[in-house]
Amino acid sequence: MPKKTIKDVDVSNKRVLVRVDFNVPITKDGKVLDEFRILGVLPTINYLREHNAKVILMSHLGRPKGFDESLKMDPVKDALEKLGGFKVYKLNDCVGPEVESFINESLKPKEVVLLENLRFHKGEEDNDPEFAKQLASLGDIFVNDAFATAHRVAASTVGITQYLPSVAGLLMEKEINTLTKILENPDKPYVAILGGAKVSDKIGLIKNLISKVDKILIGGGMCFTFLKALGYETGMSLCEVDKLDVAKSLLEEAKKKGVKIVLPVDVVGASEVKESGYAGTFDIEEMPSNLIGVDIGPKTVKLFENEISSAKTLVWNGPLGVFEIEKFSEGTYELAKFIGGLKGVTTVVGGGETVAAFRKFNLQDSITHLSTGGGAFLEFLEGKVLPAVDALEDLN
Ligand code: 3PG
Repeated sequence: MPKKTIKDVDVSNKRVLVRVDFNVPITKDGKVLDEFRILGVLPTINYLREHNAKVILMSHLGRPKGFDESLKMDPVKDALEKLGGFKVYKLNDCVGPEVESFINESLKPKEVVLLENLRFHKGEEDNDPEFAKQLASLGDIFVNDAFATAHRVAASTVGITQYLPSVAGLLMEKEINTLTKILENPDKPYVAILGGAKVSDKIGLIKNLISKVDKILIGGGMCFTFLKALGYETGMSLCEVDKLDVAKSLLEEAKKKGVKIVLPVDVVGASEVKESGYAGTFDIEEMPSNLIGVDIGPKTVKLFENEISSAKTLVWNGPLGVFEIEKFSEGTYELAKFIGGLKGVTTVVGGGETVAAFRKFNLQDSITHLSTGGGAFLEFLEGKVLPAVDALEDLN
């Protein structure tokens, strides 16, 4: 990790302002639906408490335009208390005199306070220097543990680093180290599994991976644009007609670089994207013109397993079918199970839906690294510099 982390600074008795990404799904009755991102920052919070720091947590939640009752951080506070096993104080704002007086007069070493949603203030997303300064006045040290927000330029991720010593948290360190390794120095053979609905979301990723991996296995809605580009009839399946040329040129570029692109040989077809629409499994040459492809078929699962079996590094982004619907989740599930059982392979999974699939199948502990990043994971693997990481202090 080329950046300083919390292990490089003395946090004892200091007010440590930690940017976390608690942008988690909340139910209508105010409960956290998925605790993955909260669990991810516990090592940093525990480290800071063990080292006698006063811990001040700040995050955004959702995309509010000003104050929004339904996006207050209270459900997160409850979940954090339950998961962490420590008391969490929660304030009604993230800046201002009441926040200042609580932090400066009441908060003791080892205690944890959670500020209110940063995005209730316009200055957060505008990266307003005045707002950044107000946030900075609450701490002695700034820690960024919000890898999932690191692709955003905001007052609490970038602006604030102008005013405080700024270092990475343990989750940020783990994410950057793991993803840097699979980008810069992966053990070979290296296989990427890509899915999700659209090619257009993955063009940058595929371009960057083509110069690094040995094979790319493609499923999900996006495989149909590639299949169509190769001349297959894909029925009513999702196809980005305006991206057929891009798909063709990606296939050509892969060929030139000696990267094998593996596409499905059979798919599950449905009359509509509903459990009741299930119509059967079809070889790709025999896809009925009135059906939609909703999952990879069993022959493709076997094919993908064979292609993966000798890999030493695997990266997976994007589900291979409509995994939220039980009947169309088989392909993603079978491959996830297979990967979970591999030994001596570095397996990295990222992207909101892909991670949700692994957690739904209860396979999250069977792989090397499940990234907390959605957009940030993609941008990092596209080879982009994440501004919030860049802004942290370099390790001399
Ligand atoms: C995410 O969930 O990807 C991050 O929290 C960033 O959220 P945003 O896309 O609303 O900026």
